Amino acid sequence: MNTRLGKKSLRLGVNIDHVATIRNARGGDHPDPVRAAELVASVGADGITAHLREDRRHIRDDDMRRLKEELDLPLNFEMAATAEMLKLCTEVQPHACCIVPENRTERTTEGGLDVAGQHNFIAPFVRELIDAGIRVSLFVDPERRQIKAAKSTGASVIEIHTGAYYEATAATDPARIKTELEKIQTIAAFADELGLEVHAGHGLTFHNVQPVAVIPQIVELNIGHFLVGEAIFMGLAEAVKEMKRLMQDARSGGHY
Ligand code: PXP
Repeated sequence: MNTRLGKKSLRLGVNIDHVATIRNARGGDHPDPVRAAELVASVGADGITAHLREDRRHIRDDDMRRLKEELDLPLNFEMAATAEMLKLCTEVQPHACCIVPENRTERTTEGGLDVAGQHNFIAPFVRELIDAGIRVSLFVDPERRQIKAAKSTGASVIEIHTGAYYEATAATDPARIKTELEKIQTIAAFADELGLEVHAGHGLTFHNVQPVAVIPQIVELNIGHFLVGEAIFMGLAEAVKEMKRLMQDARSGGHY
C-alpha cells in the first residue's frame, strides 16, 4: 500500500437514474428522483449521481436542475462528451462531471471512455469544463494507457468501470473474478500514484462490493441499478444503509 494513503474513507454515491426510469414508464411525476435523492441523503449517501442521456430515457434536464438546487449533497453529473451536454452541465454547475461513452442502442454504459484513442477530442472538452469551474471525472476501463491519457487531459478524477468484474461475479467464475479484481487493484494504485482521485462503479451489489471497497486508493463507489432494484424488497433507505455498512466493514478491515 502506498504509505501516503493512510486510511482513506470511502464515499457512496447513489445513482438515481432508475427511479426516473420507473417514473417515465407511466409519464407524470411519480416516483420523483429528487425525492429519492433526499431520502438517500437522509440515510448516509455521500453524493448523488445522475446520467443525463442524449435520449432522456430516464433523467431529464429539469431533474438535473432540481438535484442541484434542492439538495445539499454533491451532484455528480454523468454525461457524454457532446456540445449539448457541455452547455447544460456548465449551466447546472454540479460538484463534478463524469464523462462516459454513450451509444443509443446500449441498455447501460457498456464500456469505458476511450480517452487514449480520442485524446484530441476529449482533452479540450475536459479543459472547457475545468475552465467553467467543474471538476472532471473520466469513466475508464482498468487499463494503464487509459489512465495515462486521462491524466494528460487535466481531469482530476478517474472512475474505474467495474463492469467486467460484475460479469465475472455474475458468472461465479473464481478465476475471472480474481483476474478482474487484480486489474482494478493495479489500476487504482497506478492512478493514485499519478495523483488522480480514484472512484469505481458499475454492477456493484451487496454480494460483490466488498472486495472493491477494500481497495485503499478508491475513495468513492457509484452504485445505482442494484440499489433501486433492491428497494422493491427492502426499501431504498434500508438498501442504502446496508450498502454503506458493507462498504465500511470492508474498509475498516472486517471479514467478508
Ligand atoms: N458509474 C457510472 C459512470 C455509470 O455509468 C453507472 C451506470 O449508469 C454507474 C456508476 C452505476 O452502475 P450501476 O447502475 O450498475 O450500479
